[in-house]
Amino acid sequence: MPDHAIRTAVIPAAGLGTRMLPATKVVPKELLPVLDRPAIDYTVAEAAAAGIRDIVVVIAPNKLALPAYFTRRPDLERALDLRGKRELVKQLAAIGCGCRVRFVEQVTPRGLGDAIARARGLVGAGPFAVLLPDVLIDAVPGGLGQLTAAFDGKPLVMVHEVDRDEVRRYGIAAPDPRRPGCLLDLVEKPRPEDAPSRLAVTGRYILTPEVFDSLAATPPGAGGEVQLTDALRRLLQAGRPVGWRRVRGQVHDLGHVAGWLAANLAMAGRRGLLPAADDAPIPSAEVAVQ
Ligand code: UTP
Repeated sequence: MPDHAIRTAVIPAAGLGTRMLPATKVVPKELLPVLDRPAIDYTVAEAAAAGIRDIVVVIAPNKLALPAYFTRRPDLERALDLRGKRELVKQLAAIGCGCRVRFVEQVTPRGLGDAIARARGLVGAGPFAVLLPDVLIDAVPGGLGQLTAAFDGKPLVMVHEVDRDEVRRYGIAAPDPRRPGCLLDLVEKPRPEDAPSRLAVTGRYILTPEVFDSLAATPPGAGGEVQLTDALRRLLQAGRPVGWRRVRGQVHDLGHVAGWLAANLAMAGRRGLLPAADDAPIPSAEVAVQ
């Protein structure tokens, strides 16, 4: 029986994060917090929960805060220990969820497809996962866990349904009506009138090494960037099967202010950090000036 275990995940984190500027001028988008944890923490936890033990993060040369985040800080751990804050020490030691986390550079942000191509030398010869860290999936099992459970050897793309006027922001799937679970086509950022469905690519993939040759042959597409969607489309056009699965859970897009805020509110509600709607309002800190 073939081994379909996925052991490596690629997390592309080399983009400019223009929609979150100026917050992302110095702090990488992937380190912006959702509550008290950086966005990438949720991605790593989702990967680890799916059995991943090896993570490759693609970073830009100016995003060294990312490797710093995954490096132990014995001085901080000692200082916390001296203050008796053992729980915090444990939390800091658990960053990375026990995975080996390695970094590779994408010097120029030439697109998601190009970022994944940079990881070629580190992912090995087997299938691997790709998780976009600016997409938070609130689900049990996690988004990637749902994909790995469905993986049967062919590349697999996770999708979720979006409103008709939102399709222009995503890669959109065209499911094959004759082969359930298989794609006929993928279209990057179509106009609503041209979209083959409202199934948007969610930012979770299981890919096979053949995608690297496809990426190498893919010219820049939408926005002058090398698109992963276009490379997968080339595979489809070459007669290679690519599957799709619909995510079961809540998808939050952390890449723009409204999505990031909605994710924070939803996660705060889940952690009981917000009063329920019928509770007394939080007292305001306003002080009357006499
Ligand atoms: P996005 O398109 O959402 O991120 O890419 P971005 O380009 O940084 O953001 P905007 O559009 O300018 O606001 C999804 C993921 O792919 C990474 C990003 O860091 C993000 O995690 N990415 C994108 C790369 O690693 N390299 C790229 O060239 C582009």
